[in-house]
Amino acid sequence: MPTLDEAFRKFKSRLELNEREQKNAINRHTEVREHVRSRFAISRDFLTGSYARHTKTKPLKDIDIFFVLAESERKKYRDKAPSEVLDDFHSALVDKYGKDAVRKQGRSVNVDFGVVVDSDDNTDYRVLSVDVVPAFADGTNYEIPNTDTGKWMKTNPEIHAQQAKDAHQAYSNEWKGLVRMVKYWNNNAKHGKDKPVKPSFLIEVMAMQCLHGGWQGRFDYEIQGFFSSLADHIEHDWPDPAGMGSPVSDGMDARRKARAKVLLQGASREASNAIHLSRKGQNGEALKAWRQIFGTKFPSS
Ligand SMILES: Nc1ncnc2c1ncn2[C@@H]1O[C@H](COP(=O)(O)OP(=O)(O)OP(=O)(O)O)[C@@H](O)[C@H]1O
Ligand SMILES: [Mg+2]
Repeated sequence: MPTLDEAFRKFKSRLELNEREQKNAINRHTEVREHVRSRFAISRDFLTGSYARHTKTKPLKDIDIFFVLAESERKKYRDKAPSEVLDDFHSALVDKYGKDAVRKQGRSVNVDFGVVVDSDDNTDYRVLSVDVVPAFADGTNYEIPNTDTGKWMKTNPEIHAQQAKDAHQAYSNEWKGLVRMVKYWNNNAKHGKDKPVKPSFLIEVMAMQCLHGGWQGRFDYEIQGFFSSLADHIEHDWPDPAGMGSPVSDGMDARRKARAKVLLQGASREASNAIHLSRKGQNGEALKAWRQIFGTKFPSS
């Protein structure tokens, strides 16, 4: 039987991207890029979001691909409502992937590759879906369409990436692992079809403040404290940490925030119970309790 530390380290590594998954992501990116470039004037495209920052969890889905439109497209799209560019990206992608695989979202178009997830949350190293994000350059920043507000939204993925990197370093390089673990908890089907925290980017944004004081050396204490701190602060307003976009906490109304708080408090309590089992020397029971909290990728033995 693994020690608790070994189990957490294995869990952490199961939530990391491996080489085969990265290869598949690159293939999908290349394929989507070629199609989008055949339909729009694009100046640059790159993988971004939590995938690029290594804060993406498993199963591997919704990898963000940023498409920076050329200036020649500005009149046609940037001066219009955000829905126009998303509508056109949507129909271009439907032409290649079919209407059942393509879905319009608030700031992107999702393309689903029809990959099946098994009961251990494995996907045979394949990416489930990508989020295609049209963008315009705005100096060193970007503007992306946001149909939730009907406005174009400023964003800067490079700043978010730097902030995550700094937080990770300040936390003995354990910060991203902890973020992936709690995002994995957030995705667990036991919560029903609505995730406790939405968007899951909010977990990462909150982690910049909720994980503080430095790594203390034990995953169980860190995770319990993280859940508890998230519960305490989930109802607050959380602006874009780069100071550009709309508040990240706008993804939930008061009712949904109250629900998230209850679920986070529950997770914090369950974590305390698991810690108690370890204290009593019941390692096997503690492992089971953590698997109960997180789900199938937490090793049971
Ligand atoms: N409110 C916002 N303001 C500015 N930029 C944002 C905002 N929300 C998201 N972003 C940027 O867009 C990226 C993609 O958004 P998304 O919701 O997919 O989050 P994510 O970090 O990729 O998390 P997930 O793992 O859920 O995909 C974010 O990583 C962030 O850089
Ligand atoms: Mg994303």
